[in-house]
Amino acid sequence: MSHGYTDDRALNPSAGPSFGDVLEKRLSRRDLLKGAALAGAATTLPLAGCVTGQPVRERTMGFAGLPVSTADALQVPEGYVASVLYAWGDPVGHPAGSPAFKTNAGNSAADQALQAGMHHDGIHYFPLPYGSRNSAGGLLVMNHEYTDDGLLHADGFAGWSSEKVRKSQNAHGCSVIEVREKGGRWEVVRPSPFARRITASTPMRISGPAAGYALMKTAADPGGASVLGTFNNCAHGYTPWGTYLSCEENWDNYFVNSGEITADMKRNGIRAKGRGFRWDEFDGRFDAGRHPNEPNRFGWVIEFDPYDPQSQPVKRTALGRFSHEGACATTANDGRLVVYMGDDRVFEYIYKFVSRDAWNPRDRKANAGILDHGTLYVARFREDGGGEWIPLVHGQGALTAENGFSDQADVLVRTRAAADAVGATPMDRPEWIAVHPHTQEVYCTLTNNSQRGAKGKTGVGAANPRANNVFGQIIRWREAGSDPAALKFEWDLFAVAGDPQHPDPARHGNIKGDAYGSPDGLWFDDSGLLWIQTDVSASTLNQKHYARLGNNQMLAANVQTGETRRFLTGPRGCEITGVVMTPDARTMFVNIQHPGESPKGRNDPKNPKAYSQWPDGDAGDRPRSATVVIRRRDGGVIGS
Ligand code: FEO
Ligand code: CA
Ligand code: CA
Ligand code: CA
Repeated sequence: MSHGYTDDRALNPSAGPSFGDVLEKRLSRRDLLKGAALAGAATTLPLAGCVTGQPVRERTMGFAGLPVSTADALQVPEGYVASVLYAWGDPVGHPAGSPAFKTNAGNSAADQALQAGMHHDGIHYFPLPYGSRNSAGGLLVMNHEYTDDGLLHADGFAGWSSEKVRKSQNAHGCSVIEVREKGGRWEVVRPSPFARRITASTPMRISGPAAGYALMKTAADPGGASVLGTFNNCAHGYTPWGTYLSCEENWDNYFVNSGEITADMKRNGIRAKGRGFRWDEFDGRFDAGRHPNEPNRFGWVIEFDPYDPQSQPVKRTALGRFSHEGACATTANDGRLVVYMGDDRVFEYIYKFVSRDAWNPRDRKANAGILDHGTLYVARFREDGGGEWIPLVHGQGALTAENGFSDQADVLVRTRAAADAVGATPMDRPEWIAVHPHTQEVYCTLTNNSQRGAKGKTGVGAANPRANNVFGQIIRWREAGSDPAALKFEWDLFAVAGDPQHPDPARHGNIKGDAYGSPDGLWFDDSGLLWIQTDVSASTLNQKHYARLGNNQMLAANVQTGETRRFLTGPRGCEITGVVMTPDARTMFVNIQHPGESPKGRNDPKNPKAYSQWPDGDAGDRPRSATVVIRRRDGGVIGS
């Protein structure tokens, strides 16, 4: 999310000065480490074995890096072509109807339920049929993170009504669209039996240890096992059995509270006024004062099967409750599933889930319960370059009844409090996580944290080495024995982002190649090339510290050499988030989110194209988030 709905309110009380003092004492090498990270050269942070020693397998980056851009245009390298496939308001292709997008926000709430939502984010390509490597036809599944109600309705919040609330709710959630390629051109298949929208009111099941738990029960759902909808779905994941994972990030923004704000609500960001989505005015469950357990039913990872349009999404409570950014799954050496997850808020944590059972590659239906049984861990990054995964298991360590945790369901509903109690490392806003396809090394974007080192807040440490960290860093770790299920790891910083021309040398960073800041989206292609997407807030873009870095962008990096090259620059005010390729690597899908975002976060409905006309130009009356298809003109492999 960008500025208007910022993630930068510190909610972690354990990230206060006392922790900083402890850190200070432990850090005999602190100044050295800090100096190393800021020196602009390759970091001398404890490297601890993250150099793989394996032969280079990444694609050689055969494209010329782009200059930064402030143009209201999407730009790709010479020899590539980008075209819009699926923009907000385009029909999803549902058999029940394909209402066309109308200008001046003319579509109804009912239309919106059959059209692309707003604010495209995480995306994955599932080949058709399941199990194939079809690169010319499949399902694209994506998240629609949130809405700009200044663009969604012709008159914005004026005359706020239940119809407007329903339109906003229907513009959230996920899309499943069928896509196919003919002669190098991609199209959405309409109608398609697979096409579906999941929204903020789609019925879903709650499963795992917190299903049916007292804190999950509401007047509308006395069983605590079914819930309406998902929203603020940011990044995503997918399982090896072909299901999609969608992550509820800044869900707290949607709740108001007319009553008491409990300590747990405070820890999770619930406040009296919410963040101006105004759903509570016509959908009473969004007032946590009247429905104190309703917020407990959000902040989870959901799983659904895109190949079965009738399947009901499931909230998997074993994966914990926080501001879930993404859910990157990989397989442990013994066949169990491991899911890496960031909690994107300043001073929050990095988690992983390890399933109890191995998943079954021969019977996909047999994997329906894999994400319900297992152990959730939180990361501690030690100053010496080592680290460990601390289990969040009731009865172990500090997670006892004496310390206020009644059982495992309680630990999971109050995941942040549990992680506080076991001494996890507060990070600079963990966003996406990606696992290298050959080495199993794990990379995580820490997008920025301007409060790092501020008065009364946690100071710098080796993993989060800069005070007032406006540019962010990418951390990586290698699990012991290269086994994703291991409980110890060694870490280093892959890149400290920054601007080498910045007047303050402490902000130069150490990127080898094209500069960027606020890394967010992160994805490895099959060759091991790392794709990095940026999300600089619209309030900061092309100003102040970011005066020289242009619009948000996507870069490719060779993680063996560290070389980083700018591949795409976005239109004004957008963030770039979500990327995937077909199995043959000849088509790339990228999401462009909130082009033309106002520096204040919501646009003025009277002047909806004040900041961008992308992608429709003069033909349109407002900017639209969209999925873009990128191909090489010669049909070759992307990035090579
Ligand atoms: Fe929705 Fe943390 O980005
Ligand atoms: Ca966003
Ligand atoms: Ca993000
Ligand atoms: Ca972000």
